[in-house]
Amino acid sequence: MTPFQLTRTLAEDAMDAALRADVRRGLTAHPKTLPPKWFYDAHGSDLFEQITELPEYYPTRAEREILLARSGEIAAALPARTLIELGSGSSDKTRHLLGALTSLETYVPVDVSESALTQAGKALVADFPGLSVHALIADFTAGLSLPATPGPRLLAFLGGTIGNLLPAERAEFLTAVRALLSPGDALLLGTDLVKDERVLVPAYDDAAGVTARFNKNVLTVVNRELGADFDPAAFDHVALWDAEQEWIEMRLRSRVEQTVKIPALDLAVDFAPGEELRTEVSAKFREDGVRAELAAAGLELSHWWTDPRGRFALSLSTAR
Ligand SMILES: C[S@@+](CC[C@H](N)C(=O)[O-])C[C@H]1O[C@@H](n2cnc3c(N)ncnc32)[C@H](O)[C@@H]1O
Repeated sequence: MTPFQLTRTLAEDAMDAALRADVRRGLTAHPKTLPPKWFYDAHGSDLFEQITELPEYYPTRAEREILLARSGEIAAALPARTLIELGSGSSDKTRHLLGALTSLETYVPVDVSESALTQAGKALVADFPGLSVHALIADFTAGLSLPATPGPRLLAFLGGTIGNLLPAERAEFLTAVRALLSPGDALLLGTDLVKDERVLVPAYDDAAGVTARFNKNVLTVVNRELGADFDPAAFDHVALWDAEQEWIEMRLRSRVEQTVKIPALDLAVDFAPGEELRTEVSAKFREDGVRAELAAAGLELSHWWTDPRGRFALSLSTAR
């Protein structure tokens, strides 16, 4: 096998069909919504990397602190021969794990962003000689099938990305993850924790406006892929904390009354002044809730690590 292999499990026409279905469903719903996976074209993936460097965006630094401190323990708990990572992006933090997992033969990064997978995969094979990287362009919410690789397998889902799924979607997702694992395999899950709104909101509404550009990038994606005429300047970026649901919501608020045309769908979408389009939820978690959600999917939490300031958690759970 070549050290770097990229497989497209999501055919381009299937991806196009999924975008069309999501845009039609989401923009004709009340309130309007779009799923966050469409942020991540090459530009969106670059913007996300810039977000991870922002002073306000603590999750990446907090999770990196945990990985730096705990990768040895993770490797001791599960000397994995295969590491699968969902929503791997740049795989930057994953390098701490790759360095610690001394029995590792194959790394399977899975992402919708081809640019992120290609960039990360090429750098990793150069830096980790002997590691075979089998990248998959795939949607982790849509019936993932993985290459046959040796066990034991560790499946990582970092960055708090699980918080972008709604509770019912999370339950379905964790059940699907469990089905990909054999007894004794493990899930390494990164979850951002409930904390003061004064820390949470700025992490999604930074002073430099990078998150606002990231949020509006979804409009640019719909313009390019479906010929729409969204004017990103006609929308404001909004981040708010929903204390009842314990999640952050990112929205785009129409500054004016406007009609957006989407020729590929033969659709015209009206926005009232101040009307909001929800583009992302980012749920924040507590230990008991994570343990219960994992247990409901047949995964038993064995380790719970946080950064010293208690902002973010990594948990390891075993497939029963
Ligand atoms: C919040 S970023 C986290 C990236 C990285 N894991 C980290 O911790 O910095 C989410 C990543 O998941 C990918 N992604 C989002 N939705 C996805 C989906 N449904 N299927 C596959 N990848 C997805 C994005 O392209 C992006 O790389």
